[in-house]
Amino acid sequence: MRVLVTGGLGFIGSHTVVELIQNGYDVIIIDNLYNSELDVKDKIKDITGIEPKVYIKDLLDKKEIENIFKENKIDEVIHFAGYKAVGESCKEPLKYYNNNLVGTINLLDIMKKYNVKKIIFSSSATVYGNPGVPKYSESLGRGKTTNPYGNTKSMIEQILEDLYKSDNIWSIGLLRYFNPIGAHESGLIGEKPVGIPNNLMPYILKVASGELEYLRVFGNDYNTHDGTGVRDYIHVVDLGKGHVKALEKLEKSGPGLYIYNFGSEKGYSVLDLVKTFEKVNNININYKIVERRPGDLDEYYADSSKAEKELGWKAEKTLEDMCRDSWNFMKKQK
Ligand code: NAD
Ligand code: UD1
Repeated sequence: MRVLVTGGLGFIGSHTVVELIQNGYDVIIIDNLYNSELDVKDKIKDITGIEPKVYIKDLLDKKEIENIFKENKIDEVIHFAGYKAVGESCKEPLKYYNNNLVGTINLLDIMKKYNVKKIIFSSSATVYGNPGVPKYSESLGRGKTTNPYGNTKSMIEQILEDLYKSDNIWSIGLLRYFNPIGAHESGLIGEKPVGIPNNLMPYILKVASGELEYLRVFGNDYNTHDGTGVRDYIHVVDLGKGHVKALEKLEKSGPGLYIYNFGSEKGYSVLDLVKTFEKVNNININYKIVERRPGDLDEYYADSSKAEKELGWKAEKTLEDMCRDSWNFMKKQK
């Protein structure tokens, strides 16, 4: 099977490409290097022994996407490419709506034209909004998203649902990720934090490496076991494996709209993560408790039982693995 992976040089994309190659898929990547580097291609080759074909192209350039479909017989698509910084999306909403929505519509249009009707889309737990319960299951449905980034995820899910309703030959997977962290155990690929990170693990890594002085813990008066925010962290390698399972499901079950939560089903607080990172890596992380970050929820984690039942997938790696592998990758970046 030949699978086109958009955003395949990025954090989650590159780990998924490794799993796809290791499962015998023929992979073609399209990425515009907005948030990745070309040498990820070599790292994928170092890990798997196979170099994927890479097109440095932009999804906003519809002609170029069409050329890729003309040149290659593509069977299915995994669509990661998009912008993902929540704070930036509030400052520059048009940039986010343009890249995430127009890029996706261009891709879908060309897929339709070339009769490629299998796609997996990278969605997010953010589409649940604030449902009022901590354990999110797919049956809750989409809620009210709270920022332009989240709106693009919710809107793209809606577009894909409408597409399926209009032509039920499509096989569509909507995968809602919780908080992906960690890195490949080789330390060759991972998430390269650029500038001052917004997310917790990239921030901890910069404190660990001495680039930032201390972690700001956003609030310790939440209704959680230690007062700090609780999230469901999932190892990016588990996530990559989940994509292979989801693709197999689309191939086996045929047309349909398949929605799955990808999380570890465990909630860990900010301080749980800090303490585990300190313990497994033997490094002290300085932190200060500061004001809550606007818009943050106290606690949520995944119900991933549907993915376990229907895909035979379950997150296997522990918080210790995530902390060790994230730091192992970061150390190799110096
Ligand atoms: P990433 O930024 O590392 O990867 C995205 C890749 O897409 C990058 O390599 C970037 O260069 C590329 N890209 C962006 N716009 C493009 C365009 N117009 N044309 C071609 N390439 C383009 O992000 P990631 O963490 O790997 O996330 C992948 C997907 O998963 C995104 O859609 C993201 O919204 C979604 N997601 C991520 C998280 C997370 O916490 N990382 C959580 C939920 C959902
Ligand atoms: C956010 C987004 C989500 C996105 C995810 C990964 C929302 C509601 N959620 O999730 O859509 O998929 O990022 O990109 O927009 N924290 C600190 N100090 C820091 C950073 C974070 O204490 O410097 C705390 C937060 O308050 C939170 C936890 O750590 O309790 C996790 O934060 P973060 O990594 O930013 O992810 P989310 O906010 O869960």
